[in-house]
Order: sequence, then structure tokens, then C-alpha cells
Amino acid sequence: MRGPYDLLRRTVSQLAYERRYGVRTAELIELDQLGIAAEGRGYYVPASWRILRRTLSRKEIGPTDVFVDFGSGMGRMVLEAARFPFGRVYGIELSEQLHEIAEANVRNTRQRLRCDDIRLVHGDALTFEIPDDVTVVFFNNPFQGTVFTSVIDRLVATLDRNPRQLKIIYYNPVEQQTVLDTGRAQLLRTLRHARRRVEGSPFGLTNVYQLT
Ligand SMILES: C[S@@+](CC[C@H](N)C(=O)[O-])C[C@H]1O[C@@H](n2cnc3c(N)ncnc32)[C@H](O)[C@@H]1O
Repeated sequence: MRGPYDLLRRTVSQLAYERRYGVRTAELIELDQLGIAAEGRGYYVPASWRILRRTLSRKEIGPTDVFVDFGSGMGRMVLEAARFPFGRVYGIELSEQLHEIAEANVRNTRQRLRCDDIRLVHGDALTFEIPDDVTVVFFNNPFQGTVFTSVIDRLVATLDRNPRQLKIIYYNPVEQQTVLDTGRAQLLRTLRHARRRVEGSPFGLTNVYQLT
């Protein structure tokens, strides 16, 4: 049975990983501490370092692929995506403080990055102009309700303008029904990223969808 010792060991190994690469992403911060709390927005906590490597194959990504992390926080998933040969990697973050930490992380990382076109945007996902060539989208439960619906509707609009395959990796998929309600999404896989989770809860799960 896993207990607090297991959690401590994982935390220590994450911090050792961050120290090795010269980045800082591992924290839990409530959004009211950042002055951006509002209905439908939760907290800052990064996704697991390995989640992209578990959900994307290096072979399926090439220079015409474009990655977007909506609510990129301190940039952990931006750094992870940039280890794949994406043509461009975007991170959109509402908090100026987190955005600045993400910029420092990208500048200072000692990780080997394969994508050299990394665009960190400080702003609201609601007003971000989604590129028509985005092919992989990552959500770590950044927002719910009308903001999430608006982003999903605008992703579908990019597909109408530029038909292509679009993958959505949704970590802690609280608004999974909104993705399915588009009528354009196929659930490819569900994987467990947390050892302990409450049965029936979306927390601890990652869903991978193909949107067409
Ligand atoms: C759970 S954290 C995920 C951070 C990052 N994606 C990761 O996995 O490491 C969610 C992030 O979404 C951001 N966020 C919330 N609402 C947003 C919005 N409307 N536009 C952009 N970012 C937003 C929060 O500030 C927070 O940093």
C-alpha cells in the first residue's frame, strides 16, 4: 500500500529533476494568490512531467505540427512539448507572474529542446487567436464553463477553415462532455496518471481525443 512516504519520494524526485534541468515548475498556487481568481478558473498545479511522452509518439510529430498549452502556467508542458520536433509550441497564460517564470524556465533550461520556435503568450485564452494549423492541444483543467466551451468552439472553427487531424490531450478532464458534445471528437484513450483517485472522478485521468 502506498502512503505519505511514496508521495514524499515522488516530490523529492520531481525537485531533483527540476534542479537537474535548472527549471522551477512544481508548486500548487491558488489563483487568488495571483490576483486572477474568477468563476471557472481553478489553481496552478503542473501536470506530470511524463504525460506527453505517454500520450504522443515521437514518430507522429514533425515540423508541420503545432502544439498549444491553454493555461501554460510556469511552462512545464511547453518545455516537454519542445522536446518533440514540433514546428511551433505555444503556451498561453493569464497570470503575469506565472508567464514570467515560464519565460525564465525556457531561457534557463538545460533540457535538450528540439523545437526552437517557442511562443509564450501572456493573455486570456478567450482572446487568444488560435492558429489554423494547430495539431496538438493540451489542457490541464485550466478553466471550466463558458471559457472552455468558447475555446473548444474556436478549435472546431479552425478545423472548418483548415480540415486536418487535431489531437486533444485533456489532463483531469472535468469538462469532457463539452468535448464530446461537439459531435466531432473521438475518444482514443484514457490513461491514469495518478496512483490514487476517487472512482468516477475525472481527476487522475487523462483523455486523448481526435477532433476532425
Ligand atoms: C492547472 S494549471 C496548468 C499549468 C500547465 N498547463 C501545466 O500543466 O503545467 C492551469 C493554468 O491555467 C491558467 N488559466 C486559467 N484561466 C485562464 C485563461 N482564461 N487564460 C489563460 N490561462 C488561464 C491558470 O493561471 C493556471 O496557470
